[in-house]
Amino acid sequence: MAEDEKKSDSSFYYVIFISFILVLIDISLVYIGNIKIAQGLDKQFVNQLILALIKIKQNPFFSNSFFVKSASIILLMISVALNTTKKIPHKENIQYYQKLNYIYTLIFLLFFLLNHFALKTFSLIYLISTLIFYFGLANFFTNIKTYFKNDLVQDRFGKENRKFKQTTEFIENEYSTNLKTGDGWINVINPFRAGLVMGTPGSGKSFAILLEVIRQQIKKGFAMVIYDFKFDDLTKFAYNCYVQYKDNYKVKPEFCIINFDDIEYTHRSNPLQPDLITDFLDAVELSKSIMLALNKSWGEKEGDFFVESPINFLAICIWALKLKSDLVNEKELEEIDGLYLLLNKENSLEEKQKIDIIIKQKKRELKVYCSLPHVIQLVSTPYEDLFAFLMSFKKDGSIKNVLAPFSSALENEAYDQLEGQIASVRLGLSRLTSKTIYYVMTTGTEEGESISLDINNPLSPKILCIGNNPERQKVYSVCISLYMNKIIPLINKKRQLKSSLIVDELPTISFPPGSLDNLIATARSNKVAVWLGIQDYQQLIRDYSEKNAKVIINTIGNIFTGMVTGDTAKSLSERFGKIKIKKDSFSVSKGIVTTSYADEMQDTIPPSDLSTLKQGMFAGQVADNFGQEIEQKFFYSNIIIDPKQRKVFDRFNYPKIFDIQKAGLNRKKILNDNFQKIEKDIINLINETQNS
Ligand SMILES: Nc1ncnc2c1ncn2[C@@H]1O[C@H](COP(=O)(O)OP(=O)(O)OP(=O)(O)O)[C@@H](O)[C@H]1O
Ligand SMILES: [Mg+2]
Repeated sequence: MAEDEKKSDSSFYYVIFISFILVLIDISLVYIGNIKIAQGLDKQFVNQLILALIKIKQNPFFSNSFFVKSASIILLMISVALNTTKKIPHKENIQYYQKLNYIYTLIFLLFFLLNHFALKTFSLIYLISTLIFYFGLANFFTNIKTYFKNDLVQDRFGKENRKFKQTTEFIENEYSTNLKTGDGWINVINPFRAGLVMGTPGSGKSFAILLEVIRQQIKKGFAMVIYDFKFDDLTKFAYNCYVQYKDNYKVKPEFCIINFDDIEYTHRSNPLQPDLITDFLDAVELSKSIMLALNKSWGEKEGDFFVESPINFLAICIWALKLKSDLVNEKELEEIDGLYLLLNKENSLEEKQKIDIIIKQKKRELKVYCSLPHVIQLVSTPYEDLFAFLMSFKKDGSIKNVLAPFSSALENEAYDQLEGQIASVRLGLSRLTSKTIYYVMTTGTEEGESISLDINNPLSPKILCIGNNPERQKVYSVCISLYMNKIIPLINKKRQLKSSLIVDELPTISFPPGSLDNLIATARSNKVAVWLGIQDYQQLIRDYSEKNAKVIINTIGNIFTGMVTGDTAKSLSERFGKIKIKKDSFSVSKGIVTTSYADEMQDTIPPSDLSTLKQGMFAGQVADNFGQEIEQKFFYSNIIIDPKQRKVFDRFNYPKIFDIQKAGLNRKKILNDNFQKIEKDIINLINETQNS
């Protein structure tokens, strides 16, 4: 490398020497015209020189001052290009200085090439001006090169530190979310490969990305489930998007809210709705989701007796209540099955919608014994009553084997052993005993009050916001996790509307191991876009275990990261890989600055960059589609949000879903009546078993 530099150094000297000689010849030739040949011996050398110049002047090339100067300029440019020494330029206002250089160069070039027309007769002025323009040009050429080529100082790709060229094109399709950046676009053209947004609190996860995703997806007609941890931040925004864009949907969607703080602002929905539990395994999944939400550490202990046993027990309770509900509604269910057959045969959308409405009405009128509140009441009844009830379903093959260990313990009067297996279910569920939760998680017969969870049903699409409350997070999270885990299999089906599941602050709810990554892996074919927001990787590991967290992160195609620190920054940087860049370095010796170049593999986005990202600034990677490729998948940019546009989506408050005053009712009474009804349902079931 060093030897190369020396070579280029010396060739630069030769070229500039020849260039300068040409300028001197040009100046001298002007003198020839003005000086008379002197007489006398002592002037012989000068005379000979003049004679030689006259000969040169007869050459057509040298007879034209313009040609000579042009040649010297070309050589000057070559010498500047060969030169490896350079000035250290200003760090600020690079573009401004570069512009000035271009302007000065143009002016000097013009004067240098043309001054012989005006000044040839004034030899001295010509000499001085030609030299000034020549050296001026040498200076500006050097400057231009300095600002143009200097990677150390100039930010090659528009943003300091960025090592790659940001995508500037706007690439769109019917599913895409496009985020405007300071100097281009981040095009999430394949949201079905899931999106993850990371960043410390306040980095802009919700404001800059998730809200924009919600807006653009509602605009494009997605059915949607939003988990709103800090209810109603996302809900209010989503409602305004719904108001603005609801006409974009083929079938107008319903805007739904589930929240446990105020029954006037919530729909009711039963995640354990019996007709949606078709197999004992469904009951096991639901039980798992409840028990894991109650005991987060259980996620790592799958297979452990003290984990599996309570899960099985709760599953039996759920399944028994489901069977009971089916028995009670045998006739009505047959009718509903008939309606479903009709629905599948029907081709017209309107007719289908009509049948769908009738089915929903019929379902609301069913006697339902299977709901989380019913389960809570059931498990808290005395063992003997409880087991007598469960045993009455012994004939059902699916629970016989699972029930065996419990019933044999009971028969042997091994109450301690039984207690050990069941206590965690009882204790955990008893924490959820709240009249509001009981109200929200059961359904009523009123239309518009209760909703089904088939969010992306093309006949009745929904935008559902499920709100948490950070102060009551522990209890509410269990219920919300249950909703989410019920919604996932319902939306992840073929031939449904494109839909989106947005879970900001993911670690505050829980998903059984495998459920979320399985959704992400299969969602692509069913057009479900999953968006997750987390603060950092460590938080995810804490709540989902390292193994599960890794699987989730690795299945995600679109990653956005705001400021993250420590291990999260390191592992993300590793994921983004390395990139080959041309690196130059300065060395200063004897007042001359030398630059050397070398290829070097560097982190595409180094951890140090990730830990210093400003608010609203995001780095990451997007996934593309076959047939719609994105050349540059990495990005590193600030996301621009138009504050005026945001204000538009802050105008309306979502309306009350159930106006108690208007209905002439009393809040306390509604809650009490519902609570007592559930209590009574279970007492009746137990009594029925004893009497039969
Ligand atoms: N791109 C941006 N342009 C303008 N302001 C921004 C941008 N990104 C973030 N902000 C500002 O930062 C604030 C905090 O952002 P936001 O609430 O999205 O943070 P967050 O990462 O979701 O934090 P938390 O984890 O606490 O929810 C916003 O209210 C907004 O004022
Ligand atoms: Mg947020």
